[in-house]
Amino acid sequence: MSDQAAPWWKTTTIYQVYPRSFADSNGDGIGDLPGIIVHLDHLVDLGVGTIWVSPFFASPQRDIGYDVADYRSVAPEYGTLDDAQTLIDEAHRRGLRVLFDLVLNHTSDEHPWFVESRSSRTNDKADWYVWADGRTWPGGKKRPPNNWRSELQVSKAWQWSDEREQWYLASFLSFQPDLNWRHPEVRTEMFDMIRTWLGRGVDGFRLDIFGSIMQDLHLRNNDPRPTLTGGIPRLQTPNRTLNTDETIALAGDLRAVVDEFTGDIDEPGKGERALLGEVFGSPEVLRRYLTDGGRPGLHLVFLFDFLAARYGAKRYRDLIVSFEEEFPAPMLPTYVLENHDRTRSLSRVGGDLDKARVLATLLCTLRGVPVIYQGQEIGMTNRYIPLREANDPVPGVVAKHLPEAANKRLTERLNRDEVRTPMQWTADPGVGFCPDDVTPWLPVNDDRITRNVDIQSTDPTSLLSLYRELLTLRALRPALHAGSLRMLTVESDALIAYERADGDDTVTVVANLGDDTTVYRTGVSKGALLSATGDDVELFEGERSGTHVHLPPHSAAVLEL
Ligand code: GLC
Repeated sequence: MSDQAAPWWKTTTIYQVYPRSFADSNGDGIGDLPGIIVHLDHLVDLGVGTIWVSPFFASPQRDIGYDVADYRSVAPEYGTLDDAQTLIDEAHRRGLRVLFDLVLNHTSDEHPWFVESRSSRTNDKADWYVWADGRTWPGGKKRPPNNWRSELQVSKAWQWSDEREQWYLASFLSFQPDLNWRHPEVRTEMFDMIRTWLGRGVDGFRLDIFGSIMQDLHLRNNDPRPTLTGGIPRLQTPNRTLNTDETIALAGDLRAVVDEFTGDIDEPGKGERALLGEVFGSPEVLRRYLTDGGRPGLHLVFLFDFLAARYGAKRYRDLIVSFEEEFPAPMLPTYVLENHDRTRSLSRVGGDLDKARVLATLLCTLRGVPVIYQGQEIGMTNRYIPLREANDPVPGVVAKHLPEAANKRLTERLNRDEVRTPMQWTADPGVGFCPDDVTPWLPVNDDRITRNVDIQSTDPTSLLSLYRELLTLRALRPALHAGSLRMLTVESDALIAYERADGDDTVTVVANLGDDTTVYRTGVSKGALLSATGDDVELFEGERSGTHVHLPPHSAAVLEL
């Protein structure tokens, strides 16, 4: 079977843990590493193969850990280095792989490196960040060196420092200065840090805003023309800042570092190590991150199109077809419906659980690596939190003057707190995240009574049970975790149907995304249902030809034909 030869990262399912909101073991209202360890069995029961843990390193937490102040230590509210080691070991003991989250593009402005770098133009770390002299208006007003905009578009990418009387580059937020990856000492230090974590057994990394790491050396302006990059609207074409040749080459350098740790045994912590990039760009650009001029780079890249796509058969079909065409085997697409930055998928489909079940079926049966965000498996939804109450720094930049009434109407939420509320383990006031008398760092969602792991674990009709069933099936059937994908012809526009096959193992998936009941004719005389979104999905013998599938509105079936 082909799956025996396939490395683990090709056949796995990834589960994103957002540590601050996963489980609080010490009653301070903040999730922590011991809390994750306590709940590892939930992930085993769910059937995922890999956990990706969002940053828990020392940090002032102004961007909830994506502003690192020391890559080699753990933020005290999350635990200790020993806890990080225990997390790796306990995950491995259960057969789970572990990806940590590396923020290589920038540090916190409170990182001692930046504090030193900012202190003068001549200190030892003076060039560890991207510093530049600006320009001056005739009246003496200071201007940044060029027109580059931050990733958030609405603000410039340069920040003024009074101490150095120079500008520093900050591709995301002002307190996240970009490291200068052209500096040999920066590279050595960062590669060394990466080796340290790999040496502790980490199976790989998710790479935060990797495409923004290296900009044009000559600081030439971006083209002023607005553009779309991987579905993200930009006020200028990021031709000098995003996905530069040097950044793509760095993917290859990092690959060489992680490959040093590939052992002979294909076991967690001993086998191949993997890199998963958060990169935005055209398929051509994304493919270059995987292999450039024959040189291997990242193992996988996120494809975020499903995060933005409106629910619909045609839209999804087109996306699946384009993923298949743009990332044919041996490449693998990734499928992402949610993460800690974007609206919850159930909220995106208007809270319709039937649609969430269809999405779960597609996610777990398509060709590619599925990525699940904590709480997605129990149907957690956005929890409205007004902009003025946001912990998230992004609304302060992008929605400074937005009236709350207008904010409320937006489908894509601007305050990322809304998708980061505590993971709902039980129906208790503290949802099993923290003690009931403790105030969690973000408020608990009101839907906790039905949307919790406890209650859904014992309900065979719950979304959690469906996810478990689908992921078990995916792990068992080579067709699903290692097979090819062929789109099948459908008679109705509301249907999506495809066949997955690996050798003689074949599985068929059919989904009805329409508001009317539909019948799918399989064309064969015998078939069996392996999984279905509900009891009302049924197989029946057609009057003339073979087995038909009765598909109520917004339903799906996984079939053995
Ligand atoms: C990524 C992270 C996001 C973070 C940003 C800056 O997009 O997913 O949460 O704020 O990078 O590090």
